[in-house]
Amino acid sequence: MSVLNFNRRFLPEICGWFGSWWVGLFFGLLPGFSWAVEVDRSLIPNIFAPESTPADSIKELSFLVLGVTGGIFLLVSGVLFYVIVKFRQPAKDDGKEPAQIYGSNPVEVAWTTIPMLIVLVLALATARVIAQIQNAPRPPAAIDVVVTGHQWWWELSYPGLGIVTANELHVPLSTPENRMPAFLELRSADVIHSFWVPKLAGKTDVVPNRQNKMWIEPRKAGLFIGQCAEYCGTQHAKMLLRVYVHTPEDFEAWVSSQKALAKGDPAVVAGKLIFERTACINCHSLNQTVADGRFGPDLTHLMSRKTLGSGAVLNTPENLREWIAHPDQFKPGVKMPAMNLTDPELDQLVAYLVTLQ
Ligand code: CUA
Repeated sequence: MSVLNFNRRFLPEICGWFGSWWVGLFFGLLPGFSWAVEVDRSLIPNIFAPESTPADSIKELSFLVLGVTGGIFLLVSGVLFYVIVKFRQPAKDDGKEPAQIYGSNPVEVAWTTIPMLIVLVLALATARVIAQIQNAPRPPAAIDVVVTGHQWWWELSYPGLGIVTANELHVPLSTPENRMPAFLELRSADVIHSFWVPKLAGKTDVVPNRQNKMWIEPRKAGLFIGQCAEYCGTQHAKMLLRVYVHTPEDFEAWVSSQKALAKGDPAVVAGKLIFERTACINCHSLNQTVADGRFGPDLTHLMSRKTLGSGAVLNTPENLREWIAHPDQFKPGVKMPAMNLTDPELDQLVAYLVTLQ
């Protein structure tokens, strides 16, 4: 796979790596862009295309702020331009200094009061949106997810459902008749991260020794791309997030597939033994085995996930093999060490891991 193809496929994520909605907005607005690089524009993170309740009010607020500040910008630059043209040095300038006027009480009062009022309006509007989001009542069918930021991946556990997974958050679609928002509790295992899926909600910091809360209520099924939005070390850029929004039936199906125990296919027992006698088990959990580490992602349903390394590379058997052999090649600085397995051992291990659906 050439570097170019790789980059094209991951373009939405690359936009995410910049951690900036405006990068997504810029590319999203370029006509013909999706044709040019074969990218699905609906995946590009963009705060101006919300698909969830808290993100809607953020968009409205940002339009208010942009409208007010844009108006001020046009007014100031318009007056400035007018003055530059109107009062430029005439051809026959006598070189005399113009009349000097010091101070004007009405003008001083006006340009002190008006900006204060503008700032007050923006502050009140912002406080109102923050209060609305924070004090939103919790519908009975809401689901809970504990999101733990790690260097550099996301642990996702559903306390009510007994599911632990990584990097791909699955939530149900919420409709006015059947409201099923997801309430997230954000924790950190190490440094400060920030949880941000621009189309679903504002960003919320993930702080060690603190539990921050946020919620999302998506009204459209599909995939939403997000990323860690707080610099958290070497691979902050590859701490990507995928949020899958399912219809309630599909969500039920996902829940039951995740609750199922790891399959024990006798044909791949050699790979399972390699897994169990290697240091993998110190960092990863995998039910039906001795592995119960918490430092790395739970592997029980590894192959149900689309990417490896928190969005660093697609989760294919070939990439999985390369990832285990040299995790650094996809994600320099990654905390997972190379295990120095032999080629036959790698083959057996991958044959086992790919059965973990
Ligand atoms: Cu985690 Cu940046």
